[in-house]
Amino acid sequence: MADITESPEWSALAEHQAVLAGRHLRELFADDPGRVGRMTVTAGDLRLDYSKHRVTAETLRLLVALAERAGLRGRIEAMFSGEHINVSEDRAVLHTALRLPPGEALTVDGQDVSADVHAVLDRMAEFAGRVRAGEWTGFTGKSITTVVNIGIGGSDLGPAMAYEALHDYADAGISCRFVSNIDPADIVGKLADLDPERTLFVVASKTFGTLETLTNAKVARRWLVERLGDDKAVSRHFVAVSTNAERVAEFGIDTANMFGFWDWVGGRYSFDGAIGLALMIAIGGEAFREMLAGFREIDEHFRAAPFEANMPVLMGLLGVWYTDFFGAQTRAVLPYSQRLARFPAYLQQLTMESNGKSVRADGAPVVAQTGEIFWGEPGTNGQHAFYQLLHQGTRLVPADFIGFAEPFEEPAVDGTAMHDLLTANLLAQTSALAFGKTAEEIAAEGTPAAVVPHKVMPGNRPTSTILVRKLTPKTLGSLVALYEHVVFVEGTIWGIDSFDQWGVELGKVMAMDLAPALTSDEPPGETPDPSTAALVRAYRELRGR
Ligand code: F6P
Repeated sequence: MADITESPEWSALAEHQAVLAGRHLRELFADDPGRVGRMTVTAGDLRLDYSKHRVTAETLRLLVALAERAGLRGRIEAMFSGEHINVSEDRAVLHTALRLPPGEALTVDGQDVSADVHAVLDRMAEFAGRVRAGEWTGFTGKSITTVVNIGIGGSDLGPAMAYEALHDYADAGISCRFVSNIDPADIVGKLADLDPERTLFVVASKTFGTLETLTNAKVARRWLVERLGDDKAVSRHFVAVSTNAERVAEFGIDTANMFGFWDWVGGRYSFDGAIGLALMIAIGGEAFREMLAGFREIDEHFRAAPFEANMPVLMGLLGVWYTDFFGAQTRAVLPYSQRLARFPAYLQQLTMESNGKSVRADGAPVVAQTGEIFWGEPGTNGQHAFYQLLHQGTRLVPADFIGFAEPFEEPAVDGTAMHDLLTANLLAQTSALAFGKTAEEIAAEGTPAAVVPHKVMPGNRPTSTILVRKLTPKTLGSLVALYEHVVFVEGTIWGIDSFDQWGVELGKVMAMDLAPALTSDEPPGETPDPSTAALVRAYRELRGR
């Protein structure tokens, strides 16, 4: 595999950056009146304005040439058609098959994966329908009012984020809670006020071997059995979502109450399949299918649109542009929607577990920087916390602003709808970040000379604005698919395997090795290093052991 940084396209971008770095967005806008029109793209229900980026038509031409050099078109086809592009695990990468329309066959490794997907979706919808209708009852015959999803990482963040985003669509009087952390505070707090007779646990784990999930599930099972007084209650109150039927059975959950998926779905790409069971119970099978249609719309766009008008391709290339040519370390994601409060956390796993790699797919070390650090908070809260650094700090932090035109609530204060105030803030921020305010403008307002430098707003800070009519199951699906494919584009340019996550394994093994040293009364045995050994001793002392 040739190193992309040695390509003429990479060098051309580096040379171009040296020129463009000295130019301000104010100039780029002044020089090009047609800029906004040309730098706005739509994909399904999503509208992206990327005109406030430090790019020109030439930059885009060069970035697209880089994508061609990296073979992006072929890689997209390889993913959609089920080639084993997850090379380190020798697996296909087919989360896009989770949202294929019924009847559209896709045969991979001799198996019609689309038929498998729809068989599971139909079973999920049937089960969710029974729970929602009160036909699936608990052990004492009462209907279910709370679903507790026990899972972590991809088996938590996706459904938890989507449930919060779509809770207005939860129309069956069933609420969801999500337990993930092995900190007992999580499960103890979440179970405290629950009625065991009306609680259903969804134990969600791709591998069914994850310490946090199995530990929390055991605690939940004990809680239930103690309160209902019978082991037999478990089968009415526990269902599983997993790829591993054997371990589900070992745990004591009837595999008739298990919803499966496959090793070609990465954990962080899985909530549009069986991992979304809790969400489906809350919002119903129909709304869940609308969400899948939103995913699919972006899949089709990604596969077919020319790169110049392809939203995930453009956003991915912009990520590479700032990461590798401007030295940006992070990307802020700023949803102007309280309902998307967990979206940045969800994106952190999606993007950083995927692209936080320092070797290429062929095992050679990468030369360029990879893996943007994603972070963020909903607007306007972030404005009163960290935006100061975005506006006047020394670091370049490209940011994605996400806004919606139609609110769920319409309170108005002093004649102005609150939602319009929210949106005004979004627009004001992107404008201030791009264009800033000069010393002359500030001095002209009568600001004392000594204060002027403190008030200068440099501007030239790049942002994307994604505008959507309303947050719905469908548009949420589209937003998630957009970022899934952004990750893919970046990973392809960097030549890495975006679908494994070996870096999380060592810590898991070491924690299991260390646990006995923390819990026993024996002198601590072998610990990995002197600092950790001292900390083990200190911890035991503080615990009185
Ligand atoms: O440790 C990381 C990870 O493997 C993630 O990739 C995954 O989403 C999470 O753990 C949970 O894994 P599982 O669904 O197998 O419990």
